Amino acid sequence: MELKADDINPEPNLSGRDFLTLADYGEEELLYILETAHELKAKQKSGVLYQPLKGKTLGIIFEKASTRTRVSFETGIYQLGGMGLFLSSDDIQMGRGEPIPDTAKVLSGYLDGIMIRTFSQETVEELAENASIPVINGLTDLYHPCQVLADFQTIQEVKGNLKNVKLAYIGDGNNVAHSLMLGAAIIGMDISIATPAEYQPDYEVIQKAKTIAAKKGSKVEVTEDPVRAVRNADALYTDVWASMGQEQEQKIREQQFAEFQVNEELFSHAAKDAIFMHCLPAHRGEEVSAEVIDGKQSVVFQQAENRLHAQKALMVALMA
Ligand code: CP
Ligand code: NVA
Repeated sequence: MELKADDINPEPNLSGRDFLTLADYGEEELLYILETAHELKAKQKSGVLYQPLKGKTLGIIFEKASTRTRVSFETGIYQLGGMGLFLSSDDIQMGRGEPIPDTAKVLSGYLDGIMIRTFSQETVEELAENASIPVINGLTDLYHPCQVLADFQTIQEVKGNLKNVKLAYIGDGNNVAHSLMLGAAIIGMDISIATPAEYQPDYEVIQKAKTIAAKKGSKVEVTEDPVRAVRNADALYTDVWASMGQEQEQKIREQQFAEFQVNEELFSHAAKDAIFMHCLPAHRGEEVSAEVIDGKQSVVFQQAENRLHAQKALMVALMA
């Protein structure tokens, strides 16, 4: 059979795009990045040198702490032939009040991309609006989209697909929960989120995810009942109860989230071969028991490693 031009699905061209929230990306685009992530992981494992970003520099700005994001972006750009420039907000003038638009315009003259971890999503958006190079969100109070790329790569590896999976997220309706909801909706994966009533995900993000999911025929459920969320789930996900910037609420949150720990009892309501997921860093004895996170169904270190491969795929897509 001869293929007509219309039958051929061209690879999505993501060159020059920002990566601020998953909501800006479609299913095909996300699947394309994930496919590249698998290819780059295979290349890396077999020792193949692949350097499409030779001569390129990624500025890496952190206003919050990081282990995984920093190390995976720095080594990732290096492996792709480029260079990562770590810019602590304590050291650059932005930390002393230089306006974001000025910072964006100045950095655009030197760099080929910027990754930023900061507090407000508006900061990332303002940086992207004023920069002429791709801006990547390395976590804000609202979203953590890079994490979800690695999480979905991990689910594909372990479960073989994303669509026939039910994901349950238990705990705080935070940045990771928001990005998981949007990512699941875009892909058409069912997701159920259980949080205490006062810690539900952001209302607008829930509505956005539900609107997208309705078109895909998948479900986004928000409940206060962890057992309901976990029932028949293929993957159980949790995150810290107090995120960066909420340290002073740690004690009160420990009380309010006590019923939301992912432990063996809760796990027993999930599918038999369910996996345990966590973006890390984790607090054993709080959001997850040591038995679960250190048990044989836990894939947390595979997720952490996939940050490297998924973000390399992202950088190639946006910066090559
Ligand atoms: N999961 C994650 O983003 O980890 P870091 O805070 O160590 O970067
Ligand atoms: N919700 C956590 C994620 C850390 C990777 C935080 O924002 O601190």
